[in-house]
Amino acid sequence: MIAMPQAVQANPDYTSEIAERTAPIYDRVKNVFSDEEWVHLAPYVDEIERLKKERNAIILAHNYQTRDIFHCVSDIVGDSLALAQRATEVDADVIVLAGVHFMAETTKILNPSKTVLIPDPQAGCSLAESITAEDIIKMRALYPGVPVVTYVNTSADVKAVSDVTCTSANAKQVVESLGADRVMLFPDEFLAQNVAAETEVEIITFPGRCEVHEKFSAKQVDDLRRSYPAVTVLAHPECPPEVLQKADFSGSTSGMANFVTENKPEQVALITECSMSDNLVAGNPETKFIRSCSLCPHMQLITMPKIIDSLTNMTVEVTVDEAVAVEAKKALDNMLAVGRG
Ligand code: 13P
Ligand code: SF4
Repeated sequence: MIAMPQAVQANPDYTSEIAERTAPIYDRVKNVFSDEEWVHLAPYVDEIERLKKERNAIILAHNYQTRDIFHCVSDIVGDSLALAQRATEVDADVIVLAGVHFMAETTKILNPSKTVLIPDPQAGCSLAESITAEDIIKMRALYPGVPVVTYVNTSADVKAVSDVTCTSANAKQVVESLGADRVMLFPDEFLAQNVAAETEVEIITFPGRCEVHEKFSAKQVDDLRRSYPAVTVLAHPECPPEVLQKADFSGSTSGMANFVTENKPEQVALITECSMSDNLVAGNPETKFIRSCSLCPHMQLITMPKIIDSLTNMTVEVTVDEAVAVEAKKALDNMLAVGRG
């Protein structure tokens, strides 16, 4: 029998028809949301599900999306690499990218025949903003013959003048796959330094930073360990090297999620965007998440009402210049051939 919350009367928009239609989703997420939260959420969920059917659409969501989007309406969730990989397998006319703009652009480049929508085109990324195609061309002139690996957190223009892209899940593997003694790894300075610490390949860096991860400090990790001596610390490779040195494990957003699921630590602190902890709580009830909240303002721009607008009005459609897309796809395909390494 399908369970339904009792508080049907609490929100006039939460009709018994909506309760009935959303009951299978409620059944799946009832340990994640309180009844009060669900009564507020269900009308949005119902409308998004209706629009997805009408438009033959699916929603791809990054691990940093809020709990409502992540658990209730997403069809595929994952880190940047998983979203890029899964985007190539999608059988739908419309893809809504619940994440930031470079992810939507990547999806469009890998699926030129699909309509790709982003619910808020202002959802940018400080790393993608930090470098232009002209910067890459200048660096190539400074280091002739040295291959360029760019982080997937870049614009299509930047990817188009790169040899291969990478994500935090496969940066080291991509760098080593080139068989070169020296590689430019742009634009995330900390990711590049963190990869350099693990490889024999000489890495040339660029001064780009993630505005969320650059703020974490080694002192924060020390303080955390003093307060919670049993805590397991996981850090994203966009953090400064001194933070990673103090962490027990470092990996992409999915790498950290898998670590928690597989190792079931008693207490864990994720040194990354804090929606990650919110999303992992549901599947890991035996783990206590110690949170230090650091939200990505760009990721947070994507909301349930904006997804409804996006699917209703088919906005904002993501387009990429064809010549740029062809070149950028070569760099993405080169990365996909390496996979997770
Ligand atoms: P992941 O590739 O690990 O999902 O990271 C993307 C990102 O934007 C991290 O800040
Ligand atoms: Fe960009 Fe940092 Fe936000 Fe990730 S968390 S999207 S790298 S600004």
